Amino acid sequence: MAIRIPEETVNKIRQETNITDVVSQYVQLKKKGKNFFGFCPFHDEKTPSFSVTEEKQIFHCFSCGRGGNVFTFLMEVDGLTFPEAVIKTAEIEQIELDEAVVNDQKRHSQAPDSKKEVLFKLHEESLELFHHILLNTTVGEEALSYLTTRGLTREVIETFGIGFAPQERTLLYQYLVEKEYQEDLLKESGLFVERENGTLLDRFYNRIIFPIRNQQGKVVAFSGRMLKKDDHENSPKYLNSPETLLFNKRNVLFNYDKARAAIRREKEVVLFEGFMDVIASWQAGIQNGVASMGTSLTNEQIHMLDRVTDHVLVAYDGDDAGIEATKRATDLLVEQTDFDLEVLTFSEGLDPDEFIKKNGPASFKEFLTHGRDTLFGFKMRYYRRNLNLNNESQRLSYIEKVVTEMLTITSAVEREMYFKQLADEFDFSIDTLKEQFQQQFYEERKKRSKKNKPQPPNPEVRSTAFSHVEQQRKKLDSIERAEQLLLNRLFHFEEVWIQIKSLADEFSFVHDDYQMLYLLYESFLEHSESQATTGAFIDFVKETHLKNKLVEIELQSLSDEITAQEIEDYIDVISRKSRLQSRLKETQEALSEASKRGDQAHLRTLMIEIVNLSRLLKNG
Ligand code: UTP
Ligand code: MN
Repeated sequence: MAIRIPEETVNKIRQETNITDVVSQYVQLKKKGKNFFGFCPFHDEKTPSFSVTEEKQIFHCFSCGRGGNVFTFLMEVDGLTFPEAVIKTAEIEQIELDEAVVNDQKRHSQAPDSKKEVLFKLHEESLELFHHILLNTTVGEEALSYLTTRGLTREVIETFGIGFAPQERTLLYQYLVEKEYQEDLLKESGLFVERENGTLLDRFYNRIIFPIRNQQGKVVAFSGRMLKKDDHENSPKYLNSPETLLFNKRNVLFNYDKARAAIRREKEVVLFEGFMDVIASWQAGIQNGVASMGTSLTNEQIHMLDRVTDHVLVAYDGDDAGIEATKRATDLLVEQTDFDLEVLTFSEGLDPDEFIKKNGPASFKEFLTHGRDTLFGFKMRYYRRNLNLNNESQRLSYIEKVVTEMLTITSAVEREMYFKQLADEFDFSIDTLKEQFQQQFYEERKKRSKKNKPQPPNPEVRSTAFSHVEQQRKKLDSIERAEQLLLNRLFHFEEVWIQIKSLADEFSFVHDDYQMLYLLYESFLEHSESQATTGAFIDFVKETHLKNKLVEIELQSLSDEITAQEIEDYIDVISRKSRLQSRLKETQEALSEASKRGDQAHLRTLMIEIVNLSRLLKNG
């Protein structure tokens, strides 16, 4: 049984909600004219084709065709049911729900039905156990004092839900069996390893447990850190849950759920390598930090970042591995997006957590603000690492590399700054450097023009990209267009109903989708007296592709004035087409009859008729 929310409540929430508030929790929206645009959260794309129309309270992606209202959006983006989406909307907009609804929801959250929900619950309960052991038991004491020595406060331990899994290897197992979780489900949770005899042992033991949460803040996995090196001779420092129904590490950024608000506020995300860096920074007051899951950045993760911000500060470890990882990460980020990138390099091989421990939170914040380097500045240092610049040939090849790299800088001022820096350092004249730059610039251009599709490093490409998408917007044939316009009018003007009913008794739409919407709208009107808004109709229509069509229809721009002639014209176009279509169908049937009979003369006339009908239909 699903949660039931009274229709008045749904209507109230719909009315008091602004769709952009909700969507901008997931998509970075920019206003252009009357609408907002951003990257579609439902697929990967390089130019923004996702739009939100406040006036109509709907979203639409020109590229994938998805569309709907605020509830549809949450249902799709978070995989929620309709009532869940309504409740979440109310939460985001801080609209108070009736007590009855709240109680109903609570009852339901205690009775999860799908396997995924049971797994979420299992993780939540496991977390409670580990967390309790860390904070309140003697077996947890050593781990707690380890964390305290590392500088973590009790508050932050609680915020992140850090826990401890003790030595005893069937503790979690027994705990969950007692709570009546099925053996199969335990196996699927990833929290156990199977012994040869088939029995289960806790995967995590004698480790500090960090819960990994998905975008909605639900625990989907754990990472366990060993306490002391010798505890686990051959096993990794951090042990993670394997991939499960809930957990795909490509899609997860540690702390993304909690950081999202701060990322928006600061208009920047800080990208770390490790959990401990994220946590220590959080404690130091930097709450817009996330970390990938111990692997290099995936497209999915980059896309998650792209949805919420334009600005990434890469703050990886200061050791060699960290610097190499920074180079890899920034290359990937540049390749995939238009992020503004900056880099923080910690000296003496420190990682951010160690830096904070050593220098304190205040100087960490100071370093974060004033110690950052441009991407190019980082690359200059990167290329010269391991080079002996006293050696002339190494020096020249370094300069050449840097000058080539300068081709990627679009700001003339910034370029000037580096020219000056290089000239000063190597005692060159700025003019010589610029000459070399020009030369490489032309060579690069020649190379590009040889390729089929030149891709100029033009910063304006992105801002013009949308109009391009708009041009590509699917061209409708005249019939489909008439169908959409007619439905649009129908949804907004009651008199159109009357007109359709009186004008054409046997009227029907040519395309099934529109006919379906037409019929659905009729029954929608029968069901709802006061609230026959299109917003409510979107919820009434259950099928996704029909919802998408509905949004396309809503997005047609039409004048506020309407005439009976306009409606007649649409109906004419549509019925002419549908008459032609049924005639074509009949003729085709007659043709196959005639061919069975071997009636050559008849066949010929029928063929000619089919050709004519097809031509008429095509020119619609
Ligand atoms: P680090 O080794 O830099 O860890 O690995 P750290 O954050 O500094 O941890 P502390 O300070 O020693 O406790 C960075 C990240 O790489 C992943 C983890 O996600 C870790 O946060 N990692 C590391 C693993 O997944 N497995 C490992 O064995 C080691
Ligand atoms: Mn560390």
